[in-house]
Amino acid sequence: MSTSAEPGRTWPLVGRAAELDDLDDLLSSAAGGLGATVLVEGEAGIGRTGLVEALSASARLLSLALRTARATPERSEPYALLDDALLVHPPGVARGPVESELADLLEALRADVRRTTLRGAVLDEERRARAVELFAALLRRRGDGGPWVLVLEDVHDADPASLDVLRALAHEGPMPGALVVLTFRPVPSRPDLSRVVDAWVRAGARSVELRPLGPAATVELAQRLVGGSVGPALRGALATTGGNPRFVTDVVRCARSAGALESRDGVVDVQGAAWLTALDTVVRTRLAYLDADVLDLLAHASVLGTSFVVTDLATLVGCPVPDCWRTLRVALAAGLVHARADRLVFRHDVVRAALYGGLDEARRRAMHARAAWALREAGAPTQIVAGHLERAR
Ligand SMILES: Nc1ncnc2c1ncn2[C@@H]1O[C@H](COP(=O)(O)OP(=O)(O)O)[C@@H](O)[C@H]1O
Ligand SMILES: [Mg+2]
Repeated sequence: MSTSAEPGRTWPLVGRAAELDDLDDLLSSAAGGLGATVLVEGEAGIGRTGLVEALSASARLLSLALRTARATPERSEPYALLDDALLVHPPGVARGPVESELADLLEALRADVRRTTLRGAVLDEERRARAVELFAALLRRRGDGGPWVLVLEDVHDADPASLDVLRALAHEGPMPGALVVLTFRPVPSRPDLSRVVDAWVRAGARSVELRPLGPAATVELAQRLVGGSVGPALRGALATTGGNPRFVTDVVRCARSAGALESRDGVVDVQGAAWLTALDTVVRTRLAYLDADVLDLLAHASVLGTSFVVTDLATLVGCPVPDCWRTLRVALAAGLVHARADRLVFRHDVVRAALYGGLDEARRRAMHARAAWALREAGAPTQIVAGHLERAR
């Protein structure tokens, strides 16, 4: 097996055989002329991009044309995502009549938006309807030149106008000869994206939900990254990743760049704990997509431990339980905690540790003091209360 050039990228994917089989089947039916749509959903870092890259490689093997674009919050002008996917041409390739009309129309629409000072300016209805029509025509007509694959990544960050087109397309059903792949995270949740997803589900789209890697696949991924078998301390660190491949790669990279990896008789293990500070910092950057209120609540929860009772957290932060739940629902959707009755458990201890490590000392001490009080009120054992008082000093 060859290893691709990107550092940290392993090939082939670990633990995704079923998902890849599914996609390969759909790719074959696209190649055979049938259209299909796949919705690839999963938490940040779970491997959506990895999966579509593997799919793209298969598409190239089958000589299928491939168009890909990725939405980002910065590319927010109307139709930016579809523009990137469909209207960007290699130099020297002329635009067709539909593409030219579309390009002019997009220019006019964007000029309209620039003129309006209001945020979320409403597009001129006539132009909007024409843009939807032209994009639909362009997408359907592209299949005339042979089967193709359209990958739109991170549509949770897509501009609303592109989502509008995608929803309209779903009402007409799969595009013959095209495999359309949409990838997205459950958070941020957006009503306009939910409408797109619902419309495609009704149109028979396949859903692929990427789950965390199991313990064996987690270790296998780490072994590929370190190029040897994994020792007990490194295994312990891997167990905190909750099977999220991004966190697995973060653990290995941080340990390596801190010089904490040591190899003995083909067994690679991590030495000491100093490298964990760098890991905490990296993991916190991975959480930057979450709103500050979610991060703040989870930081409080990190003081209570790897699992916590929601009423205790509410007492700790001094906010009503229903308000707490409203914020926690985002953390649940993002896959950062999971529920066990009225308890919540951090899914990746590496996240809990990173949030805890990010608290400044005075704040952390104050939180422990308050946690001691909240837990005593709730009837927690004295040694638990004492533990918090200890850390409050
Ligand atoms: N199944 C897997 N096997 C090996 N590496 C993986 C796997 N899934 C993800 N990775 C690696 O983990 C990191 C995060 O994956 P990525 O596909 O970028 O996640 P997402 O797009 O869902 O945020 C990348 O470095 C990727 O190569
Ligand atoms: Mg990605």
